[in-house]
Amino acid sequence: MKLWGGRFTGEADAEFARFNASFSFDRRLLEADIEGSFAQAEALVEVGILSPDEAHKIIEALKEILRRAREDATYLDSRESEDVHSFVEAELVALTGDVGYKLHTGRSRNDQVATDLRLFLRGEIDNTLHLIGDMQRALVVLAEASPDCIMPGYTHLQRAQPILFAHYLLAYFEMLKRDVWRLKEIRSRVNQLPLGSGALAGTGFAIDREAVAKRLGFEGVTENSLDGVSDRDFVIEFIGAAAILMVHLSRLAEDFIIYSTSEFSFIELSDAVSTGSSLMPQKKNPDSLELIRGKAGRVFGHHAGLLATVKGLPLAYNKDMQEDKEALFDSIDTLRGCLRVMTTVLGNVRVNRERMRAAASVGFLNATDLADFLVRKGLEFRVAHELVGRIVSHAMEKGIALEEVPLADYQQFSLLFSDELYEALKLETSLANKPARGGTSPERVREALAKAKALLEG
Ligand code: ARG
Repeated sequence: MKLWGGRFTGEADAEFARFNASFSFDRRLLEADIEGSFAQAEALVEVGILSPDEAHKIIEALKEILRRAREDATYLDSRESEDVHSFVEAELVALTGDVGYKLHTGRSRNDQVATDLRLFLRGEIDNTLHLIGDMQRALVVLAEASPDCIMPGYTHLQRAQPILFAHYLLAYFEMLKRDVWRLKEIRSRVNQLPLGSGALAGTGFAIDREAVAKRLGFEGVTENSLDGVSDRDFVIEFIGAAAILMVHLSRLAEDFIIYSTSEFSFIELSDAVSTGSSLMPQKKNPDSLELIRGKAGRVFGHHAGLLATVKGLPLAYNKDMQEDKEALFDSIDTLRGCLRVMTTVLGNVRVNRERMRAAASVGFLNATDLADFLVRKGLEFRVAHELVGRIVSHAMEKGIALEEVPLADYQQFSLLFSDELYEALKLETSLANKPARGGTSPERVREALAKAKALLEG
């Protein structure tokens, strides 16, 4: 029986039927759809629509559908279906007979699909949180493997000040921490039950929605039936969070692409995540990272696309909303692929400490330390800044580093200078002189690492 046969005399155009169908992609919701239906069957017992016996029959049949779907890859294609909901209903009726038709009492595909999508996304958020944890662990392991490795820190991609490589890596740990935070917040807004909203006006039966929510592990129920069936904020904000996470992955990818060039040679990617050239025998290309960077655009596109899809929809449900699924599924798949590959990249990267240190030693990265030295001797910072600028100029003319400028020259600029200044110019001193929380001093970085590890263990 068709889902809406009675009112219709004509057949759907074959091409339109294909156009209208979503089963090729929304089959991913099958497990969630069946889980939701278990709760629906139990709720219908409580309002007297199903006898306990009928509910039992329905639930056993749903379990059988689930089992077949898991065990037989061809099962889902055994019946032409518009969407996952009609597939399950048709299979249910095939297994139970007419009693299967009772399950949809008081339920619409509108509250059903919203429920399925929330159940599904809840699980996917949990999977994503695990993958983020794996990547955070890889960052921490890499940071711990080279605790005293010094590199140039950059602003405007110009050498700026020396930092610890571990400090650099922990910057990404922090970004991922916020991603986790965001996803957990979103999870609890996803985790609200729309079932019982009916098509739009509410279900026609006195279903205890709180009890249904409890059964399905939802934190609450949606409060308004119109909103319950037409809200896709939870999908949009998940893809938004995914987009921000992709920004973080893409920035790390970009850094590592730059750092692995011959010009930098700070790191070398493992063969496992690189490719060669079909023409140039010497090439080793960071395709893994380029794809991560490139795929960020896909997720941004899904976010913008779904905002546009929803923005003009009159309340409540409209078929436009079927477009939410592919955007969501592809965002999830893209995110998962990128997180996993990035974790592999981090786990296999070779760090060239000598190159990093050498780069941090050339280019006056300790000029700020010299200014801070003068400030500690009592000079106003702005004045010290100006003075050191002139000393840098002087050193550049002579073609030497600040630590190679003789004391006599320094003292021409200021009598506050003494032999101690050479100590202040050392890379290690520069790092040690960033003692405030959040800075790159080895002590603070050690603490940050310990905190990061504790967080992962907790
Ligand atoms: N496949 C549909 C979707 O994803 C299910 C809901 C259909 N509801 C309807 N009234 N046509 O949105």
